[in-house]
Amino acid sequence: MGNVLITGTTSGLGKAFTEKFASMGNNIILVSRDIQKLKKQQLYLQNQYHVTVNFIAYDLTKEDAADLIMEQIETWNTPIDFLVNNAGFNECGLFSQTDLDKEIKMIDLHIRFITQLTKRILSIMKKNNYGHILNIGSTGSFIPSPSDAVYSATKAYIMSFSNALYGEYRNTGIKITLLCPGATETEFARKANIEQTLLFKYAVMKPDKVVKISYPKIIKGKRLIIPGIYNKLLVFFSKIIPIEITNKLTMIMMKNY
Ligand SMILES: NC(=O)c1ccc[n+]([C@@H]2O[C@H](COP(=O)([O-])OP(=O)(O)OC[C@H]3O[C@@H](n4cnc5c(N)ncnc54)[C@H](OP(=O)(O)O)[C@@H]3O)[C@@H](O)[C@H]2O)c1
Repeated sequence: MGNVLITGTTSGLGKAFTEKFASMGNNIILVSRDIQKLKKQQLYLQNQYHVTVNFIAYDLTKEDAADLIMEQIETWNTPIDFLVNNAGFNECGLFSQTDLDKEIKMIDLHIRFITQLTKRILSIMKKNNYGHILNIGSTGSFIPSPSDAVYSATKAYIMSFSNALYGEYRNTGIKITLLCPGATETEFARKANIEQTLLFKYAVMKPDKVVKISYPKIIKGKRLIIPGIYNKLLVFFSKIIPIEITNKLTMIMMKNY
């Protein structure tokens, strides 16, 4: 049991992970933007699992987001045992047609914010020689994806970052895990307008299933988890098939039908 800080808790994978961690008796700090949803989630988790739940409602694309979170947890005097870098979104389409402002915000959230918060929390974990960080990548971390160029590039950063930190901390009390789910039935595809793609029509997994498969492996401190045989095969073939072919296949899978 410990204190778990999870970003992006109000829906999808973050919500499912929050429920799992709370059900295991952990105290939770929820971080997302929607304050009404956060208040409801706090009440529900406290009543259901009798754990302490606090929340921070903030837009994590803002430059001071990591500072604000650190100030808040210092005020609460809550040492973080487990950090889940989950919050994320997608801006999908051909690069010439996508919204650059959204893409820059995606870079802010997936790269800058995660780097800043992880550095701050790791430095405290390092003093105690104890802690665990779970980073949420994607099967897209392995596959440069035409029609999802910036998203897959940010997820490649998360993979490289997580694997490198795993190497730095592997013989210490700190665990670093990278979870790379494939298409998952959350709010993510609706928000990015990719619900009608072949990928999201035929290859989706429920978030509860992702959590059920991955949670025991996370707790063991595995470096990399790819949930589900389909996603494992996708990653395996993406490594051996020439980029020209994966490019074409990705375009087909990511086209709205
Ligand atoms: N679904 C998939 O197919 C899939 C596949 C592979 C990887 N992933 C990754 O899984 C993670 C979770 O996504 P999901 O599928 O669960 O999507 P989701 O249902 O849309 O949930 C995203 C969560 O992130 C929060 N969030 C988004 N932007 C934020 C911001 N600027 N500041 C603070 N919070 C923010 C949202 O809360 P608020 O709106 O309340 O802020 C929400 O709680 C992401 O990193 C995503 O890239 C998803």
